Amino acid sequence: MTPVSISATSHLRPFPNDWDIRPRRAEDIPAVIDLMRRVYVQPHGPEAVWPAETLAKHLEIFPEGQISIVDGQGRVIADSTSMMVATEKALRPHRWSEITGRGTLAGHDPEGDVFYGVDLAVDPEFQETGLAHILYEARIALAIQMGCRSFVAGARMPGYHLASDLLTPESYVALIERGLIFDPTLSKQLRLGFILRGLLRDYISDPESADCAALISMEF
Ligand SMILES: CC(C)(COP(=O)(O)OP(=O)(O)OC[C@H]1O[C@@H](n2cnc3c(N)ncnc32)[C@H](O)[C@@H]1OP(=O)(O)O)[C@@H](O)C(=O)NCCC(=O)NCCS
Repeated sequence: MTPVSISATSHLRPFPNDWDIRPRRAEDIPAVIDLMRRVYVQPHGPEAVWPAETLAKHLEIFPEGQISIVDGQGRVIADSTSMMVATEKALRPHRWSEITGRGTLAGHDPEGDVFYGVDLAVDPEFQETGLAHILYEARIALAIQMGCRSFVAGARMPGYHLASDLLTPESYVALIERGLIFDPTLSKQLRLGFILRGLLRDYISDPESADCAALISMEF
């Protein structure tokens, strides 16, 4: 795959020659489930890990949209799930399950002008080494090729539970946007060039984020 460069700059670790970034394959499905189990540990419930049927549906509906990074031993160490939707659906208040068809991508619209981020998971062993950056470059290149005008996602804000006694979710994301608080997910997304568009309440069952997400977008 040929990634594009995005505004963020530093790849924290060089990408080894024997690693590959490529569309997810049917035979990767067990390895993607293993990856999700490593990433979505407690307090996430088992529903955070997709069953094989859901991952197989993705390959039927939008095969080129699902991108993985595989190490030299063929182990999936990072994986991203995406779909396309109309701008008005992506930017109005919504829930993750409604827009993604409970993760099946049933509402994928090949005519949609928004590339929508459904999930992104990097193996904890390799987080903060630049793999999300590399996956975003590949996803943005694909989005542009598909004719999309922007990338939209509901970003988790898993550090919120540590501040929820003191701050509303709105104040928390505003402080992150100003760079005054570091959140392990939202800060990284903003660092990659996304802008904050608002707060989605009741977005997804996610105790660490108080079920909220930050609505973020990047225009091309
Ligand atoms: C969120 C997640 C996907 C990010 O993946 P990652 O591979 O750790 O992210 P990267 O290393 O590519 O970092 C992304 C950006 O944040 C910056 N960053 C990473 N760690 C940082 C830190 N501790 N402090 C400041 N900036 C940091 C990186 O430098 C990079 O910006 P750059 O390219 O300009 O340098 C990963 O942490 C994860 O899988 N989390 C659990 C699941 C999850 O929350 N998924 C998101 C669903 S919305």
